[in-house]
Amino acid sequence: MFMDNIKQYLSKKRQLVDQTLGSYFVDKGNTLFDIMYYSLDHGKRIRPILAIAGYEACGGKDINEIMPIACGLELIHTYSLIHDDLPSMDNDDFRRGRESAHKKFGEATAILSGDGLFAYAYELISNGNGLVAEKNKVISRVSEAVGPKGIVFGQMLDIAAVDPLTPKKLRNIHLNKTAKFIEVSIECGALIAKASEKTIEKIKKGGILLGMLFQYTDDILDVVGERSALGKTPGKDKTAGKITASAVYGLDGARFRAKRYAERAKAVFHALGSEFMFFDQIIEYILNRTF
Ligand code: IPE
Ligand code: IPE
Ligand code: MG
Ligand code: MG
Ligand code: MG
Repeated sequence: MFMDNIKQYLSKKRQLVDQTLGSYFVDKGNTLFDIMYYSLDHGKRIRPILAIAGYEACGGKDINEIMPIACGLELIHTYSLIHDDLPSMDNDDFRRGRESAHKKFGEATAILSGDGLFAYAYELISNGNGLVAEKNKVISRVSEAVGPKGIVFGQMLDIAAVDPLTPKKLRNIHLNKTAKFIEVSIECGALIAKASEKTIEKIKKGGILLGMLFQYTDDILDVVGERSALGKTPGKDKTAGKITASAVYGLDGARFRAKRYAERAKAVFHALGSEFMFFDQIIEYILNRTF
């Protein structure tokens, strides 16, 4: 598969995710749902696409089995972004090229819309198709990855981070705030497709490496690239005082290490066989992304 194909694949899957997400937000005129949808709109949909890709690579044939879970992941991701942008967190006025939720609707409404997305995600995941045993496992693993052993813990470490910047602190922040969620996104697909435990163990390893890569490129793009200019709050440095990959290793060091994570992730997915070839392309795409 060539890079053109990956772009096509991503755009096809993104459309499918957007369509399905839209079907969960048809209650027009319900102000809270409209506000939640405002933040949900315009994402790259990487996590749902990884869930679908994991499902398909593991032999899943009925995409309707994975869609509610894939969309649930995007709702959880969006809630984490709304809270990440709050004045008491990263204090970011822009998100997904538009005003962030608290700028648009006020802080209290933004917090509540995040809470709404978080809970609604579990409603979608638990009401979706799929066997009870697999779904229970998905719910348990997603909760681990996004709660106090995952994103919430990572965000705690992120806001509490103080000098000196150390590689160990950086790794712990990246692992918890980002990599575990990326890992579980692929794992959900594998679980619903009933992959073997051995395959799932390998997928998890590749998922963590891919997740570390993802936060490295995010940290790099917060400093350089079109996103650092697009929707940036004038006079505000998004990474000031933060433990980021470029703060710890310098921009070149961060780029070098991102490439190394990409190579390591590729090696893991290669070992899983030709059904996982797509991951080679997605790793390249994430390594070279510009937003
Ligand atoms: C941004 O995630 C936050 C991180 C965990 C790095 P994305 O880069 O996936 O953001 P969207 O969903 O496309 O807006
Ligand atoms: C966000 O990390 C991670 C989350 C869990 C939301 P960042 O704070 O670096 O993400 P951006 O740069 O604001 O998207
Ligand atoms: Mg943050
Ligand atoms: Mg942030
Ligand atoms: Mg960032």
